Amino acid sequence: AMIWAVLPAAGRGQRFGGDTPKQYLHAAGKPLIEHALSALLRHPRVAGAMVALSADDTSWPGWTQLHGKPVLRCVGGGERADSVLAALRALPAELDGDTLVLVHDAARPNLRGEDIERLILAAEAGDQGAILGAPLRDTLKRAGEGRILATEPRGGLWRAFTPQAFRRAALTAALADAAAAGVVVTDEASAMERAGFRPRLVEGREDNLKVTTPADLALAQFLLQSDRE
Ligand code: CTP
Ligand code: MG
Repeated sequence: AMIWAVLPAAGRGQRFGGDTPKQYLHAAGKPLIEHALSALLRHPRVAGAMVALSADDTSWPGWTQLHGKPVLRCVGGGERADSVLAALRALPAELDGDTLVLVHDAARPNLRGEDIERLILAAEAGDQGAILGAPLRDTLKRAGEGRILATEPRGGLWRAFTPQAFRRAALTAALADAAAAGVVVTDEASAMERAGFRPRLVEGREDNLKVTTPADLALAQFLLQSDRE
C-alpha cells in the first residue's frame, strides 16, 4: 500500500533566531528541509509529500517534484499540530483512510533510510501506529530556582523523534479532537494516545536530531558531511 510523507514546515524558528526560518538554512550544501524531504522521498515505499508552509513564506524553492515523486504544499497553522492537521486535510482526496502517513519535522535533516524502513515495518505490523525515539541516557534532575530538588528515575522514559507513522483517517480525527478540546499536542503520538491508541516505540538513531539552536545546526552540518564522505 502507498505511503505519504507530511512535513510541518510552517514554524518561525524563534528559539534559533535570525530572519530566515531554520528549515531553510543550509547544511552540507542544501537547506535542511531539502535533506528532510529527500530522505523520505528516496524511500521506495513513500509515494509523495505534503509540506505545510506559513502563509507569508518567501523561501520555499517551489519544488513540485523531488526524486520523481510529487511534492504538494498547503498553508500551515499557528501550532505545529495545526500545520500537520492542515497537511493531512490537503492530501489527495483519492488516498484512503488507511494510508500510512509519516509525519516528519522539516528541521530534522539527518534521517536515514534504515530508520524509515524499521518504522514502516512496526507501523504496518499493527493498527496503533509507531514512532521513532530513543531511551533517555542522562540522569534527570527536577529543578527549582536553579537548584536540584530531586533526582528523577529515568527507567522507562524515552525521547520522541520523528517520523511518526499513523493511518491518515485516525490521525486526522485524533488531531481534530485535540484541537477542538483546546489541547496543544507537541507530537502526533500524544494526540493518538489521547484517542486511546498505544503507538509502538521504535528505537532510532540518536543522530536524527532536530535543529532548534545554532549549536544544533553546526552538529547537523558535521553529521551530514561525514555521512556523505
Ligand atoms: N512547525 C509548523 N507549524 C508551526 C510550528 C512549527 O509546521 N506553527 C514545524 C517547524 O517548521 C518544524 C517542526 O514543526 O519543522 C518542529 O517545530 P520546532 O522545532 O518547534 O520549530 P519552530 O516552531 O519553527 O521553532 P521555535 O519553536 O523555536 O519557534
Ligand atoms: Mg516550535
